[in-house]
Amino acid sequence: MAQGQSSKFPRVKSGIPGYDELIDGGFHIGTVNTVTGSSGTGKTVFASQFIHHGIKIGEKGMIITPSESSEYLKREMMSSFGWDFSGLEKKGSLSIVDVTDPVLRLQKSIDVDPVEFLINFRRLVERKLDEVKPTRLFIDDLTAFFMAVEAPFKIRSLTDDLFGTIRSSKVTSVVTIGTAFGMNQFLEYGADSATMLNRERIGNTLIRSIYVMKMRGSRIANSIRVLDISDDGMAVSSLSPYP
Ligand SMILES: Nc1ncnc2c1ncn2[C@@H]1O[C@H](COP(=O)(O)OP(=O)(O)O)[C@@H](O)[C@H]1O
Ligand SMILES: [Mg+2]
Repeated sequence: MAQGQSSKFPRVKSGIPGYDELIDGGFHIGTVNTVTGSSGTGKTVFASQFIHHGIKIGEKGMIITPSESSEYLKREMMSSFGWDFSGLEKKGSLSIVDVTDPVLRLQKSIDVDPVEFLINFRRLVERKLDEVKPTRLFIDDLTAFFMAVEAPFKIRSLTDDLFGTIRSSKVTSVVTIGTAFGMNQFLEYGADSATMLNRERIGNTLIRSIYVMKMRGSRIANSIRVLDISDDGMAVSSLSPYP
């Protein structure tokens, strides 16, 4: 891509103040974007705000919750920021797929072969995207699903299959990834962009931080920024945690 051309492609605004300027204006339409961080760094808040913002501007959102129940996510976002995901679901602008729902018959079990489980999960995602046709998708913490797959090459090809399915539906997605199981690199490798959330220790204080590790086809800001979370949601500061 010639220099300066990337900003001419249509972008999907993240809805996180200060973030889009780190990635030259927003996500590319129809891409898979990972957000990685350890527990409590703000992954779920980031992706929920991406969905909530999209719905505010008239788009249709879908959330898939592989690791926690959707009730928990809804309660959390309501009490933290007043985002009424249950209400949006009733209005039809948000669709939540709870993978822990027994009706989907996709329960995680030690008896199920992990590769087979992931293949079934990919089919479920494909079916739901086809049914609902959302413009924004959020999958919360995929890591646990891949943990039981031992061979790295299998993780790579299962990731490629899943991300390929998502891309072919033209939805713009944010997939969150925990760091606890050490497989985040495999998932980031297959994604179109990768954003990292951290905590930095400055003296006796912990400060939230964010940087963009990669984004295909875009200029990115190569700097670490302070990340703020307040009752209004998440925002990327123009400041670095290291003055
Ligand atoms: N209204 C708020 N003001 C400030 N911080 C908040 C607010 N609501 C939640 N938080 C903080 O946001 C963080 C939640 O991050 P979360 O996205 O759930 O993390 P992860 O998904 O990475 O585990 C918690 O550390 C919590 O204290
Ligand atoms: Mg989370």
